[in-house]
Amino acid sequence: MLNLISNILKFAIQQLTKTTMYLRKGFLLFLLSTTLMFSCNSQESFVQNLESPNSEISLDFSLNNEGIATYLVSDADGVLVNKSVLGFELLDKEDLFKDFEIIDIKHSNYDDTWTRVWGESKVVRNSYNEMKVVLKKHNDSKLKLNIYFRVYNDGIAFRYEIPKQKGLSKFVISDEKTEFAINDVNKTWWIKADYDSYEKLYEETLLEDAKWVATPFTLNTTKGKYLSIHEANLTNYAGMTLKQNTNGAFESELVPWANGDKVRCEGVMISPWRTIQISNTAAELIESNLIVNLNEPNKLEDVSWIKPMTYIGIWWGMHIGTETWVEGNRHGATTANAIKHIDFAKKNGVGGVVIEGWNKGWDKWGQKDAFDHITPANDFDFEYVAKYAKTNGVSLIGHNETGGDIESYERFMEQAFALYEKYGMNSVKTGYAGGIIPRGEHHHGQYMVNHYRRVVKLAAKHKLMLDVHEPIKPTGIRRTYPNMMTREGVRGMEWNAWSDGNAPNHTLILPFTRMLGGPIDYTAGVFDVELKNFANDRVKWNTEDIGKTRVHTTLTKQLALMVILYSPMQMAADVVDNYENEKAFDFVSELKTTWDESKILNGEIGKYITVARKSGEQWFLGSATNETARKLEINLDFLDANKNYKAVIYKETDGSNWLKNPSKYIIETKKVNSGSKMVLDLPEGGGQAVIFTVE
Ligand code: NOJ
Ligand code: CA
Repeated sequence: MLNLISNILKFAIQQLTKTTMYLRKGFLLFLLSTTLMFSCNSQESFVQNLESPNSEISLDFSLNNEGIATYLVSDADGVLVNKSVLGFELLDKEDLFKDFEIIDIKHSNYDDTWTRVWGESKVVRNSYNEMKVVLKKHNDSKLKLNIYFRVYNDGIAFRYEIPKQKGLSKFVISDEKTEFAINDVNKTWWIKADYDSYEKLYEETLLEDAKWVATPFTLNTTKGKYLSIHEANLTNYAGMTLKQNTNGAFESELVPWANGDKVRCEGVMISPWRTIQISNTAAELIESNLIVNLNEPNKLEDVSWIKPMTYIGIWWGMHIGTETWVEGNRHGATTANAIKHIDFAKKNGVGGVVIEGWNKGWDKWGQKDAFDHITPANDFDFEYVAKYAKTNGVSLIGHNETGGDIESYERFMEQAFALYEKYGMNSVKTGYAGGIIPRGEHHHGQYMVNHYRRVVKLAAKHKLMLDVHEPIKPTGIRRTYPNMMTREGVRGMEWNAWSDGNAPNHTLILPFTRMLGGPIDYTAGVFDVELKNFANDRVKWNTEDIGKTRVHTTLTKQLALMVILYSPMQMAADVVDNYENEKAFDFVSELKTTWDESKILNGEIGKYITVARKSGEQWFLGSATNETARKLEINLDFLDANKNYKAVIYKETDGSNWLKNPSKYIIETKKVNSGSKMVLDLPEGGGQAVIFTVE
């Protein structure tokens, strides 16, 4: 009934728009004051509502009497986002913020499913109601601004469009004024805003302490709702950080160009979606597909070459200081070492091998024009290694450390990618460790957003999958370009090798924050968590860390993290010598990297989480805790009914935890079915990994 009324009213509005062309404020007030859909008070000249398909989330768009556009979000329990302003300041031009009148409002809806090339689930439902609001300034400038709102069952989103118009063919956004005034906040989880890095430990604080943060920015409310603010489809625009104003609302603070411009525009400007995921539990946040749904469908015609995989590498040795990137007597990337890794991968069912330090330039890291992305080191026979990998069915993953020197990398890219394609490679890991050249540009500004996208497109042209380190944050581009597999953008495993590392709770915050944006190349899977095997065998770049460095988990929590922290390229990060003859590596050999279905069985931010993922008839489960031991009881009702399963459980030995015998584990086997319960007995800093196979 309510729907019917709402449709009639929507129709009435459309007719009204057509006949009058301009919805003048006074006329509108007169006409709509008798309806249910619109409310008016002294501050507001106009309110229009948009509901989620299940009617649980509601967004009110309004224009106040200064012609400023605002939105407000609520659900059955009350207001989630207080009235928050929308709009822009433009450099040396009239603003796009106030003095607006409404020209048109169009409602539409959408409900369909799409199939992923790879991901946490095969099929995704995309169902929303949309409202396009066409605004025009009523002063002499007559500038136009369109805003698209969408309300989903799992959150809301909106984006701006500055249409092509007289006086705005080429212009600069000097400030985006979007606000997020979240109501009644209980707690927040965030990393500090930084124009160049997301490699930080998370803070868990009250609202007042979250002064300037990166997104995804996750909060819960006093009424128990979970919200996460982020952005989707970050294209030809600057990354958004959030700065708290004196009223406790967050304002969009865009990462600037070197000269202070925020976004340089030509022709039509379409902003990324500003998103707020909304859920009743923390676990539900992770099951939301809002971010990918707000991106355009796959643009690549042939995706047969895109193959998610597990991988190992000549990598950890450099971080713990037993090997070097630089040529010399400890050089990791030698031909012989590469062959050893390819053989290991083949024998143990691992998909790929990344080899860092294979090329020239590492001795000049930090200087301009340091890296050469096509010439191999003297002791690395690139062509031979590539052929050997190909013949043995192992993917050789190229590595391009740019050191942040974009000018140089852009000169190499085309030739390098063509060479890798010629050598039969299907993936590249890129890296941007260092200040951006041209100097003054930032990793997260429009200049780099555009660079990262050029690399994705060029890689697709050469049939290369990408794993990007020091990237721009994930905003769902993987849907449009499914060769954009995974990225770092997180304080990953490497920090455990040369700093005080990542505390046991770090990886229990990531699923509810960073992972909401998309896959993470965290690179778990270290078995020698105390770095015992290498304590006295390091080179000088991190000698001062020896004694402090270690991985702050148990071994089996490392396995659990390979299920929890989803990545379609999932690395087992330890040096291969630590995997030889370890039964626990069977878990990695069996692990899948794309899933038919994923379920978040439980979870509290920073405390614990249990994730189950299905591939064919198998289920993989990862469960982990912070520094507190806990028993988690789970129902195995996610298993197919009427089938018997063998559960192979990788867990710590009795009495071991992340501080005591962290590498000791047992592998237990149990018969279970969908009616069974399982108690996951997790010690301090521990975790369990389970494979369920139909018998
Ligand atoms: C930082 C990356 O995150 C890491 O994976 C890589 O080994 C180094 N840079 C060197 O490229
Ligand atoms: Ca890094």
